[in-house]
Order: sequence, then C-alpha cells, then structure tokens
Amino acid sequence: MEDIKNIAVLVSGGGTNLQALINAEKDGRLKSGRVTLVLSSNPEAYALSRAKENKIETCIVDRKLFSDRTEYSRALLKELNSRKIDLIILAGFMYILDSNFIKHYKNAIINIHPALIPSFCGDGFYGVRVHEAALDYGVKLTGATAHFVNEVTDGGPIILQKAVEVKEGDTPEILQRRVMEQAEWEILPLAAELFCAGRLSIEDRTVRISKNNQT
Ligand code: GRF
Repeated sequence: MEDIKNIAVLVSGGGTNLQALINAEKDGRLKSGRVTLVLSSNPEAYALSRAKENKIETCIVDRKLFSDRTEYSRALLKELNSRKIDLIILAGFMYILDSNFIKHYKNAIINIHPALIPSFCGDGFYGVRVHEAALDYGVKLTGATAHFVNEVTDGGPIILQKAVEVKEGDTPEILQRRVMEQAEWEILPLAAELFCAGRLSIEDRTVRISKNNQT
C-alpha cells in the first residue's frame, strides 16, 4: 500500500538542496515522499523560482515582517498546519524556530548542516562561515550532517553524515561547493527517503535505520 508523505521545504536563499530533493524525486531516489510545499522566509529567494518551475506550491512568510522568533514561528506553524505536512526539511533556512514549533513537529523536522557535527556547529555557524572556521582550524576532513531538529541549534539526533576532503588551496567558497556537491545533495534526499519510508527510529539520541524490507 502506497502512503506517500508530504514534505514541506523551508528555504531562505538559492535552494540547491531543494533542487537536490526535486532531482531525487524525479530519478526515483526519493519515492516515499514528495515536496508539496516550498515555504520561504525571503520573497526574493531563488528557491521560489525552482519550486515554480517544478509546479510546487510556494508560500512566503517574510521574516522581516515579524518582530520576534515566537511570532514568526507561530506564523509558520499556521501555514504548515493548514496543509497536511508529514516532514519539514530546513534547506538553507536562515532562522531558528521556537520551542513551540519544534514540539509541534517533534522528530519530523530535518536540517542539513554543512559540517560534521559536533564540529563547526551551533549558534553563529551558518553559510560560508562554517567553511571559514573549518579552514582556520586546519581540518583535513569536513562534510555534511543531516539531523533531526531539537531545541539545541544543530544539536538534534544525527541521521546521516558524509565526509569530504579539504584540499590544498581551498577557499571557503570552493570548500562550500565541494561539501554541497559531494555530501549535502546526496545525504539530504537519502535522509528524506528514509524518514518517509518509515525506516528511522530514535533511541535516546541515536538514530537507527531499519533495513529496507522491499526486495
Ligand atoms: C547549505 O550549505 C546548507 O547546508 C546550509 O545552508 C546552505 C543552503 O544552500 N544549511 P541552498 O539554499 O540549499 O543552496
């Protein structure tokens, strides 16, 4: 029996991770869920054009129009609750959600972070800053992490991680691109598929991935 889950993708910018999810849907890597809504905090986000090109419903909840996080999170909840959404994916979404929002969608929000958590994560580590910090530290390996979202910034249970090599002469921008291409765009659609296929469970803070029983 088919039970395709509805995915809302929250974005603020370019939306290459959204594109990775759309591509995965098209080529069958993401088959247990489909992106039914793209919600942007930014009316100018290019991610909105990607959604429209793919005939996905869009919605803008402009962060600038809200005075604080609580009010903003409430407005987001209202939009999401008015649709049937099973999974929320934060794909380059620039704002921290409040605890009420997180409780409402407990263990149903996935974020992609461009480092190997617990390195280079937490408040202030976003966008190219993460890669600047990795290069400043001199790590030889970095990568990306797909994780559930809880009340701690980048602190929720880890679903998947993939390592990426740091190379001589890397700039933060070059490293950012390599991490996206080699890790983020691969593990985010896979994490979405595992969630939608009901293959993820959380014990304490460890995520277990059950075997695929479809042969
Ligand atoms: C990605 O590096 C993601 O890991 C981070 O924000 C960036 C978003 O890029 N959370 P995009 O909008 O998906 O292109």
